[in-house]
Amino acid sequence: MKNLAIFASGTGSNARRIIEYFMQSPVAQVRLLLCNKPDAPVLGIAEALGVPTLLLDRAAFYQPGNVAQLLATRSIDFIALAGFLWLLPSCLVQAFEGRIVNIHPALLPRFSGKGMYGMHVHQAVKAAGENQTGITIHYVNERYDEGQIIFQASCPIAPEDTPDTIAQKVHALEYQHYPQVLEQLLRKK
Ligand code: GRF
Repeated sequence: MKNLAIFASGTGSNARRIIEYFMQSPVAQVRLLLCNKPDAPVLGIAEALGVPTLLLDRAAFYQPGNVAQLLATRSIDFIALAGFLWLLPSCLVQAFEGRIVNIHPALLPRFSGKGMYGMHVHQAVKAAGENQTGITIHYVNERYDEGQIIFQASCPIAPEDTPDTIAQKVHALEYQHYPQVLEQLLRKK
């Protein structure tokens, strides 16, 4: 049995799917949710589902060794980012090499980098006149959206689609694939 931590600081719809997916799983359990926003809805979701939460303070987060040590005391094996916007400190990336993944709401390497998150991505995709978009699940390093790609899935964009309807299509892909891809990775580790 592997112990999974989720880092999330937003609405938490992916975190909810991941927690629920692994609730009865023999492969892994979500043991901890880390968040850097005190008012993020994801905190209430995790608490309602019985997952312990921790609020991150920026200075403590970047203090070398701090988070890695905290995760070690909780026997965390693997980290899934789901709407977490801070870059990870390099000591954490090194301590969990090959064991931290993120989901990006577009087809990397396009529509990536600092500031490209949430609706900003879908607005940029619409403005570029793309006829498809999708999701990318990738390993995490010290730079935004640059880690090795693990999985991608795409969906068509119709001319009448808006950033909102694009976001809905992308979220549907996220819910469909992220928990399963995590499960495959956790089985291998
Ligand atoms: C998702 O679209 C994910 O791709 C991105 O952040 C968003 C989080 O949404 N990394 P939610 O909080 O899971 O609803």
